[in-house]
Amino acid sequence: MRCSSWRLVSLAFIFLGACGPAEQTEPDDAGTLADAGLTDSGIQPDAGVTLEPIDAASMDAGPPAPRFETHIAPIFEFQCQGCHFVTDLPPRIFVQGDDIRTTFDGLLQSAATRAPLDYVQPGLPDQSYLLLKIEGRHLSAGGEGNHMPPPAARRRVPAQDVELIRAWIEAGALF
Ligand code: HEC
Repeated sequence: MRCSSWRLVSLAFIFLGACGPAEQTEPDDAGTLADAGLTDSGIQPDAGVTLEPIDAASMDAGPPAPRFETHIAPIFEFQCQGCHFVTDLPPRIFVQGDDIRTTFDGLLQSAATRAPLDYVQPGLPDQSYLLLKIEGRHLSAGGEGNHMPPPAARRRVPAQDVELIRAWIEAGALF
């Protein structure tokens, strides 16, 4: 066996005892770790073994939090704005141009007219009337009327979009 570097030699001494004269590094039967110059972890302090600090940025932090402007507004534009903009129905939902911000502020700052809840309660999807209306769970929360969009619209928000709205609220309802 040919050891090409000092590091390899050291490691081999420590873990295998296979390189070099055994008496240099191998503890005899009565020896302790300290006698052998080993720490509890079995790594020789001067063996050149360094632990690199973990780079936080390189760790997988999961998907970024959904945002109103990029993820949620397009869903509302397709599913809700036809009724909640053209008519005076609260909440006002119109998500084009500067109105994205106005709609966002309105949803975040208003209480429902027909339920004892806010439309959006950041961090608390189950307390957010808008989501409960979409999920059809609004009646048990003290609300009224239909699920959204109502049956007359003949469509439901797809499950993955409902999950996205839930995740958006859960993550703090960011703009
Ligand atoms: C076909 C028209 C129509 C569409 C599409 C529609 N809504 Fe509605 N929405 C209504 C009507 C009518 C009401 C009032 C009666 C009721 O609550 O059922 C209402 C009520 C609501 C309320 C309760 C308002 C309050 O203050 O009590 C919320 C919240 C709501 N809609 C959200 C939405 C969302 C979010 C969407 C899209 C996912 C949507 N709506 C799509 C017609 C619509």
